[in-house]
Amino acid sequence: MGSETQSILVTGGAGFIGTHTVLQLLNVGFKVVIIDNLDNSVEESVQRVRELAGTDRSRNLQFYLGDLRNKEDLEKVFSQTRFDAVIHFAGLKAVGESVAKPGLYYNNNLIGTLNLFEFMGKYGCKKMVFSSSATVYGQPEKIPCVEDFQLMAMNPYGRTKLFLEEIARDIQKADPDWRIVLLRYFNPVGAHISGQIGEDPKGIPNNLMPYIQQVAVGRLPELSVFGYDYPTEDGSAIRDYIHVMDLADGHIAAVQKIFTTADIGCRAYNLGTGKGTSVLEMVAAFEKASGKKIPIKLCPRRPGDATAVYASTERALKELGWKARYGVEEMCRDQWNWASKNPWGYQSQT
Ligand code: UD1
Repeated sequence: MGSETQSILVTGGAGFIGTHTVLQLLNVGFKVVIIDNLDNSVEESVQRVRELAGTDRSRNLQFYLGDLRNKEDLEKVFSQTRFDAVIHFAGLKAVGESVAKPGLYYNNNLIGTLNLFEFMGKYGCKKMVFSSSATVYGQPEKIPCVEDFQLMAMNPYGRTKLFLEEIARDIQKADPDWRIVLLRYFNPVGAHISGQIGEDPKGIPNNLMPYIQQVAVGRLPELSVFGYDYPTEDGSAIRDYIHVMDLADGHIAAVQKIFTTADIGCRAYNLGTGKGTSVLEMVAAFEKASGKKIPIKLCPRRPGDATAVYASTERALKELGWKARYGVEEMCRDQWNWASKNPWGYQSQT
């Protein structure tokens, strides 16, 4: 378990996966410093984490408003605390936006991360857990996706993740003191069981579950189901949805692994459940959990979408001792709990 003397820098810690991970880090006794530019998040989420962690543990949490592209911000954070490891979530993640504004994505995700590597090196903190994505498998020819599959990106966002994985591998190869874990997330959904923290995207959601959630609370009229002619049982596409608390615990396991394994090198792990669920099955599960009808409209496929993607979970189990505990029922239950308590996310209705 984490010792109170160990400090973790969490970039993007005010975001969806960040908040849940920070809470779990505090719960196992780490000190945490968040740096976040609040581009797609709000500071209220950090306040909620403090409340959930309780007075004692929340003393171990510090928040910096800062941007990884700004070296002065990094200097401020690194010069004030000696970090034992960094969990790097910060980045832009909307596929459509990345196609429209590739420069923005390369600038934000690549420059931000290169700066972070630079400061980690400068201050002698060479342990990183990096937020990668199943997007690096592209349209997988085989499923489940195994970590040593050939990687492929389908859009600028995916390329930033792929390039950053390659950069991490090169940096570690050049200096074997580095220990880097690349965590490839499948489809993170759900919320903390309290319903106090959860996903709160700005604008119209791109991803399935936040969209369903907003239909359920009446913010959006209906869900467009992208594709009903896939070669799957019900014709809709299949993904590996994973409860965000499982994902958060996967980060704890990865941090522990990094501290205890000197020769980890730069190693990738899938964080998924290994089970595929179709879009229509997710809609049905959410309807059941919420008691709300989700009106749907069957629409053409979304360009670039794969038929079925799910994880091989063996490596994470064997090497990190981690596996997902929650199923689709709990994911929908907890997401609905968050949605019904916070229909407008962290903001009050405007
Ligand atoms: C998407 C990204 C992926 C990224 C991940 C981050 C694409 C092509 N991929 O994954 O790169 O890492 O989000 O969370 O965008 N769907 C609908 N209606 C909707 C929204 C989605 O039917 O309004 C369907 C999609 O077609 C897909 C499934 O729901 O079959 C899941 O979609 P989504 O939540 O966007 O995740 P991915 O596409 O798997």
